[in-house]
Amino acid sequence: MSNGLLRRKSIDVGQHGDALARTLSWPHLLALGVGAIVGTGILTLIGVGADRAGPAVLLSFTVAGAICACAALCYAEMASAIPASGSAYTYSYAVLGEVIAWVVGWSLILEYSLVVSTVAVGWSGYAVGFLKGLGIMVPAAFAQGPALGGIVNLPAVAIIAAVAGLLTLGTRESARVNAALVILKIATLTLFVAVALPRFDAANLHPFAPFGLGSVAGPDGVKRGMMGAAAIVFFAFYGFDAISTAAEETKRPERDLAIGIVGSMLACTLIYLLVGMAAIGAIPFVRLGASPEPLALILRELGRPGVATIVAAAAAVALPTVLLAFLYGQSRIFLVMARDGFLPAALARVSSRGVPVRITVMTATLVAVVAALVPLDVIASLANAGTLCAFIAVAASVLVMRRRDPTMHRPFRVPVARIVAPAAIAGCLYLFTSLQAVTQIAFVGWNGVGLVVYLLYGRRRATLGSGQ
Ligand code: ALA
Repeated sequence: MSNGLLRRKSIDVGQHGDALARTLSWPHLLALGVGAIVGTGILTLIGVGADRAGPAVLLSFTVAGAICACAALCYAEMASAIPASGSAYTYSYAVLGEVIAWVVGWSLILEYSLVVSTVAVGWSGYAVGFLKGLGIMVPAAFAQGPALGGIVNLPAVAIIAAVAGLLTLGTRESARVNAALVILKIATLTLFVAVALPRFDAANLHPFAPFGLGSVAGPDGVKRGMMGAAAIVFFAFYGFDAISTAAEETKRPERDLAIGIVGSMLACTLIYLLVGMAAIGAIPFVRLGASPEPLALILRELGRPGVATIVAAAAAVALPTVLLAFLYGQSRIFLVMARDGFLPAALARVSSRGVPVRITVMTATLVAVVAALVPLDVIASLANAGTLCAFIAVAASVLVMRRRDPTMHRPFRVPVARIVAPAAIAGCLYLFTSLQAVTQIAFVGWNGVGLVVYLLYGRRRATLGSGQ
């Protein structure tokens, strides 16, 4: 362990006095991963991606999926070697030093909190439409935040409160509800593929890459092209990393975390491949761009309005699994940051059921305020930037540890790590450059603020520096 900004946390992950209950095994983790991954990305952003890349969005999915697969392998190695809560933040603290861990923790807030806020607002749109169909009108002032002319987005707040309530009841109970919703989600996508794939028309794939294979900003500042779309649909693939935040609640973390991470990534890649082919082959891509519910739109255009309604309703019912996984992940990352002295220690208290109730309520309040009030179109892509930063840190941690401690016990090893880990880093850096300039600037600004907070506050508060 060194001193100052680069001091590192001991890699020994001992028991905490206030430990979480170990209730999860690999099927729970697999469901947690699929629940986190399959969401707004495949349900909605596939349309945005098609708008930006044309049918080449299929390649965008392949590129984003390949980069995420490399990152997932790196997460699996780190999670099985350091089976402690906190995910990329903890690995960075143990391997790369305190200041980098702080930046990663700060970036993870972007990833987890903004995904929850974004998905809650997206879900609110579905819910308001659904209630309207039942004759229940939510006044516009309470259906969207001030930036869109409303006062507060109440349905978004309500769904976050419901998911947070479930999480405080118990991790195992939450995992069970999650598993049931994940099955519903997979069944919904299977139904879509079964109806749309037989209508595949190769003519819809021409021209294949009308905006090219790169990422070029138009006069409106929007980046188009296959790689530009890859930076957006990247959103669809992450979430497997949330599994690593469950390390302290997993019965056999050395084995089960790797199964959950790699397994959920493989399963979702297969699902996306099928959904992507079915969607892009079904109708001309130009009709997908503007739709908030492209899969239902495709089914309606194929003359199957009944199936479209089922798919839209089931998707809305199952979408909260993304909220559950990311709210869970964010609360566990905050929990570890509180234990490390960066947040008030009282927040790290665990209930008699082994659940960190206080930190869960604090996290939910934070993301609910964002979801209720803040316009999300720009900050949603900030979640991608935060995630890319965390993926780079984890892949770098793999490389550093292979060199620093080659004999360390690694229940899961990244195959050909010398290629896979640098590929994850290079791919994430490239995707970062493909994001809009405004997102890149906001990301740097956020971490600039984070570093100031660290230097003025975090550095002195760190329990590592106080000899505790
Ligand atoms: N992968 C998650 C989604 O698509 C964040 O909603």
